[in-house]
Parts: sequence; structure tokens; C-alpha cells
Amino acid sequence: MSRPRLLSGMQPTHDSLHLGNYLGAQVNWVRMQEDFEAYFCVVDQHALTVGPDPADLRQRTRVTAAQYIAGGVDPQRSAVFVQSHVPEHSQLAWVLNCLAGFGEAARMTQFKDKSAKGGQDAATVGLFTYPMLMAADILLYNTEAVPVGEDQRQHLELTRDLAQRFNARYGDTFVVPRAHIPAETAKVMSLAEPTAKMSKSAENQSGNLMMLDTTKANTKKVKSAVTDTDNDVRWDPEAKPGIANLLRIHSALSGESIEALVERFAGENKYGALKGEVAEQVAVVQAPFKERVDDLLADPAELDAHLARGAERAREVAGATLARVYDAVGFVPLGR
Ligand code: TYM
Repeated sequence: MSRPRLLSGMQPTHDSLHLGNYLGAQVNWVRMQEDFEAYFCVVDQHALTVGPDPADLRQRTRVTAAQYIAGGVDPQRSAVFVQSHVPEHSQLAWVLNCLAGFGEAARMTQFKDKSAKGGQDAATVGLFTYPMLMAADILLYNTEAVPVGEDQRQHLELTRDLAQRFNARYGDTFVVPRAHIPAETAKVMSLAEPTAKMSKSAENQSGNLMMLDTTKANTKKVKSAVTDTDNDVRWDPEAKPGIANLLRIHSALSGESIEALVERFAGENKYGALKGEVAEQVAVVQAPFKERVDDLLADPAELDAHLARGAERAREVAGATLARVYDAVGFVPLGR
């Protein structure tokens, strides 16, 4: 029997993923690839919306793919591929652009945030149509599950709306996907500013634990994590967001429950001890992750071969879906 499908992706916008990407998305990718037919896409076309240097984009695309595999995605079992290798993504995006309302695209908070940062003239049309390309990524594979962090929820809702609208207008074509958002690590917060999410584009990078940084650098960041002035380790995300973030990170990495951690660190002056253990737990995951990435990057031909195989598998499914879509909307098939 065929397995239900899963798709997810990350933008190759930086030299390294951060712990939020890992705990918010990748841990679920690895777990879910056992039960799903999984597609993991490096979304280089999305990354182009912010105008990266070409050499950086090329390098970061490979580094991002290597991080997928280093974090536990099995390229034999799951398709690991680059978005621009599968032209059906942009082709379906156009059709979805013609289905999405201008107003609903303008309401996307990520677009509003990003365009507000650089001013409206700096925002590209690509940034505006970004969510329709993302919807195309997902809908091409008749995806049932999309493992992502909390910040992608709104894009997923739009994807569902577009799938339903297409199906109502043109007949049943798309599966309506569901977001899979983890309970405790849906939004890993910045260590420097625990009321803001850990983010690749944050101005203050001292709050980001980078998967490809040295253990020393990450330990330093954990040790200087912003907490609060009372000295008691308690579970109170409202009043103590820094401590809540550290407890969540520890629990996600170590598997120890938050209640057990709170009990163990109860009493005065335990912040230092908690930070020490968090730093250790981060290192246990991050150091071998980095080593595997270095190994994978040492053999770029092998990595590119994984990506070529992934694209081939992706195109088989994507091509069939796009053909159905083109037929449904009334495009004339190419004559022979
Ligand atoms: P991106 O590249 O910003 O982030 C990749 C994944 O990491 C999650 N994430 C977080 N999770 C928890 N805490 C955080 N602080 C945190 N920061 C990031 C994101 O939710 C995401 O799951 N639009 C997407 C990329 C994309 C995509 C897709 C995803 C394009 N097409 C199709 C899924 C399916 C993005 O910008 O992710």
C-alpha cells in the first residue's frame, strides 16, 4: 500500500540552520519519514526573493541539503532535492497566482514584516507571491502532512484555501494538506531576546544557536542567555520566557520532561547549572551534526548525485500533478 505523502522545505538563506529550524521542523521530518513518502526540498527560488549573492546562494543550497541529511533525513528513503531543479514548482505557482486574491496575499504577516523592514520599494514582487510558490511546493505532491514551525501556520492556511478553491472551481485535483507543528518546540525563542523567535534574519545573532557553529561559540551563547532577576527555576512562560525557552530546549534535546527538569533544578541559584546542561545537550546534537555536514561537503559530487536522484523522483510526481492541473484549467496539450 502506498504511504501518505509529506513535503517540507527550508530556505538556503544562511550559512547554517539554527536550533529553531532543527527542533521546530527537522526533528519531525526525521521521525515522520518512517511513515510517509517524504519530499524535502531546498527552496532556492524562495531564497532569491531577498536578492542573495549568486556564489552565496549556490554554496548555501548545497550546505542546506547537507544539513538535511546530517540531521537524519535518509536520501535513499526520502527525496532530497532543490526546488529550481523541478520547474513544475514555478509552473504551478503561476496558476495559483491567478487563483489567489491580492488582498489575501497582502495579509500574510511574513510579507508584511519583511516588506516593512526594507520599505515598500525594496520589497520585490517575488516576496509578495512567495506564499503561492510555497503552496505549489506542497500541492504538487498531493501532500497530506507538512511538518513546520509555528511561523508557517498562516502560509499553510492559505495553501489549504487555495487547494479547496481550485478543487471547487475545477474539480477535485488537490489533497488539502495539514500542518504538523510540534507542541513544545513550535517556536524556539532567541536566547538574547526570549520574547522574539530565533530567526536567521534577526538583527541580534547572539540569540541564535547555529548548527554549524563551534561548540565553544554555542556554549558561550547559552551561558549568556537572557533570563530574569528572580533566581528560581519555575515553569512560567509568561513571567519567565527565558527560563521557559531553556527548559523547552533541554527537554526537546534530552527527552527529560519539563516537570522533571523543574523539579531537578528547583531551589536558589540554579540558573547557571541549567544553562550548563542546556549547553551540553546542544553540543551532543550539534557537534556530530556539524561533523556529518563537513563529511558530506567534502564529496560534492556525491551530494549532487543525491540531489539529482531526488529531483528525478520529485519530477515524476510533480509532472503528473501539473498535467492534471493544466488540463483542468483548460490549457491545450502540446500537439505532436
Ligand atoms: P524557513 O527557511 O524560514 O524555516 C525552516 C523551518 O524552520 C522553522 N522555524 C522554526 N521553528 C521553531 N522555532 C523557530 N524559531 C523557527 N524558525 C524557523 C520554520 O517554521 C520552517 O518549518 N516558507 C518556509 C520555507 C518553505 C516551505 C515550503 C516549508 C518553502 N516552501 C513548503 C514547508 C513546505 C520558510 O521560510 O522556512
